[in-house]
Amino acid sequence: MGRLRFNAFTMNCVSHIHHGQWTRPDTRQLEYASLDPWVELAQLLERGKFDALFLADVIGTYDSYRGSRDPAVREGLQIPVNDPSLLIPAMAYATDELGFAFTASVLQEHPFAFARRIATLDHLTGGRLAWNVVTSYLETAGRNLGWGGLPEHDERYERADEYLEVVYKLLEGSWEEDAVQRDVERGIYADPAKIHDIDHAGRFYDVVGPHLAEPSRQRTPVVFQAGSSERGRAFAARHAEAVFIIARTPEGAATQVRDVRARAIASGRKAGDVLFYQGLSAILGGTEEEALRKQREIDERASDEGYAAHMAGNLGVDLSAIDLDAPIGELRSANVQGVVKNLIEAAPDTTWRFGDLLRYTADLRVVGTPEQVADRLQTWADAGVDGINLMYHTTPGSFVDFVDGAIPVLQERGLAQRAYAPGTLREKLSDGAAGPYLPARHPGAEFRRAAAVGA
Ligand SMILES: Cc1cc2nc3c(=O)[nH]c(=O)nc-3n(C[C@H](O)[C@H](O)[C@H](O)COP(=O)(O)O)c2cc1C
Repeated sequence: MGRLRFNAFTMNCVSHIHHGQWTRPDTRQLEYASLDPWVELAQLLERGKFDALFLADVIGTYDSYRGSRDPAVREGLQIPVNDPSLLIPAMAYATDELGFAFTASVLQEHPFAFARRIATLDHLTGGRLAWNVVTSYLETAGRNLGWGGLPEHDERYERADEYLEVVYKLLEGSWEEDAVQRDVERGIYADPAKIHDIDHAGRFYDVVGPHLAEPSRQRTPVVFQAGSSERGRAFAARHAEAVFIIARTPEGAATQVRDVRARAIASGRKAGDVLFYQGLSAILGGTEEEALRKQREIDERASDEGYAAHMAGNLGVDLSAIDLDAPIGELRSANVQGVVKNLIEAAPDTTWRFGDLLRYTADLRVVGTPEQVADRLQTWADAGVDGINLMYHTTPGSFVDFVDGAIPVLQERGLAQRAYAPGTLREKLSDGAAGPYLPARHPGAEFRRAAAVGA
C-alpha cells in the first residue's frame, strides 16, 4: 500500500463547501479577493508536502433552492466567485514544488483559447499544473454562456470528449519536440516545418491552428476529472489521470475505484494510470475531547440552509419543496448524477431518502486525534483511494491543523510523503514512475507527431 496524496480543496470565493463557517473570527474567507491568504496558504501546504492546491469553480449561481438564488447570495455560497486560474501564478511564484489544479468547464471557453491559457500556466508554474475538466451542472451556467440552458447531461460529455481532442491536438501535436530552436546565431527562433496546423473539423468545433504557445514542461497538464455518473465514469476512464470522488464510505469508494479502473484497463490504460482522490474534511484535536469540542463548534455554526441550497443546485431539485422522507429512488438528475449513484454504492440495500442528501458533504469528515485521523485515512487508502482532497471548515485553520497535527503522524506511517519527487507535477504524483508528458497509452498521446515522442 503506497502513500496517500494530499490536495487542499478550495475555491476563489467566500463559502465553498462548509456553509456558515465564514462568519467565524478565525477564518480568512472574507479575504478571498486578495493575494495574501492564497500565497500564505500555498506556502503552508508546501511546508506540509501537500501535492497540490485544488480550486473548484462554477460559472453560474445556485438557484434551485426555493426557486431563487437569494439563499446562495446571503450565504456567500459560491457567489461572489472569482476566476480560479488567476491565483495560480502568484502562488507558484511563492513556492517551488506545490502543484496547482484548477477547474474549468468545457462549456466556458473555446478550446483554442483555453489551450493557450493552460499552456501559459504550465509555463509559468514550471510544469506544476493540473486541469480539472468538468461539464457544469448549473442551469444558470448554461444560460450565462449562451446555450439557452444546460445542454443535456450526456451530450455535455460528448462535447467534452471533442473539447479534449482539440486540446490534445494543440498541445501535443501542433509543435514538434524540436520545433523551437532559439538559434541566436542564425536568427531562427522556431522551425516553420515543425509547427503544424491541426485542421480539426468536428461536430462542435472547427479549429485550424497552429497552437499559439510553444510546448511547456508537461505539454498537457495533469488531467483531473470529477463526475461519477455512468457517462462521467466512461469519460474518466478514457481521459483522467486523477479522479475526484466523494464516495459516502470507503466501501463505496472501493466500488467506484474498481469500476473506473476496469474501464480504463479495457481502453488500453494501466490501473496505476488513474489516481483516485476522495473528498474529506478533518477535524483534529490534541485529544479526542478537543476534536469533539471543535466539531460541536462547527456544527453549531453550520448553515443547514447553505448545505440544502448547495445540494439543491447540484441536483437541480428544489429540496425545500419536496418531501424529505421520500425515497430518492432512481432520480436521474440532469445536473450531477454521480451523487445519487454514490449513495447507492455506499449501501445498495438501504432506501436512501432526499433528507439523506442534506448532510452529504457535512458528513464526509474524519474527527479525532492525529492518530485517529490517520487510522481513518488508512481505511480509505485500503479501499483503493490514492489521495485526499481535503476540504476546509476554516482557512487556513483546517489546513494548519492538518499540516502540523496529522501530516507528521501520516509521514511516520508512510501514508504521507516526506519530500517531493523531482520534476513536474505528473512526475511527482507518480513518485517518479511517469515522465513529464502524458504516457504513450493515454489517448492524448495519439496526436503526437513521431518526432514529438521525445520524453
Ligand atoms: C467531487 C466533485 C467535484 C466537482 N467539482 C465541480 C466544480 O468545481 N465545478 C463544476 O462545474 N463541476 C464540478 N463537479 C461536477 C462534475 O464534474 C460533472 O461535470 C457534472 O456535473 C456531471 O457530473 P456526473 O457525471 O456525476 O453526473 C464536481 C463533481 C464531483 C463529484
